[in-house]
Amino acid sequence: MTYKITYYGHSTVGLEIDGLQILIDPFFKDNPSTKTEPIALKPDYILVSHGHGDHVGDTVEIVQQSGAKVITNAEIARWLGDKGAEVHPQHIGGGHDYPFGYVKLTQAVHGSALPDGSYGGMPAGFLITTGKGEKIYHAGDTGLFAGMSLIGEEGIHLALLPIGDNYTMGPDDALRAVKLIQPKYAIPIHYNTWDLIAQDPAAWKKRVESETDTIVHVLQADKSIEL
Ligand code: NI
Ligand code: MN
Repeated sequence: MTYKITYYGHSTVGLEIDGLQILIDPFFKDNPSTKTEPIALKPDYILVSHGHGDHVGDTVEIVQQSGAKVITNAEIARWLGDKGAEVHPQHIGGGHDYPFGYVKLTQAVHGSALPDGSYGGMPAGFLITTGKGEKIYHAGDTGLFAGMSLIGEEGIHLALLPIGDNYTMGPDDALRAVKLIQPKYAIPIHYNTWDLIAQDPAAWKKRVESETDTIVHVLQADKSIEL
């Protein structure tokens, strides 16, 4: 095992890399897919892709109990910092080394207003390079964009891609995203949280695996996989 992924439904993903716990877009209390109580989590780092409530989620509460450092864009970092969070601001295209690996913020085509209407800067995805050199791409909320092929040029081990449609890529564009990125593994996210983004992940897995060399893992909420 080099890293462990836990899926909490929606876009909420836990990563364990070299014994450190990283939580991406920690949306628990209003997330009908997970039974995990955020109080039970003790992340070392929290990554927030954009300002929407289903991504900022329970960040403030989790930070208060865990002291986790938040990695996000400069505008969201300022907003969370004002609420007492320890933050590390970055921005699109910029990367920084952390004890678990190198985190670069990538483009995402979406919005980013914060829950109270504050300006949340540009939405982002995350490209995480582990100490062993594996690259994990969490796309955040995004539509399909041609620059995904540039992300793919880096050699992606795992891509976490939204398939829910309506707010983000749907299954057709997420399949096109896989073709641009060419990851070894893909995990679908941002679906089945609400009826509006209901999708059949098994059908998407079948399409991806018949048209590409990528292996798709469909994870149930609160389940983990080691890759
Ligand atoms: Ni969003
Ligand atoms: Mn969302």
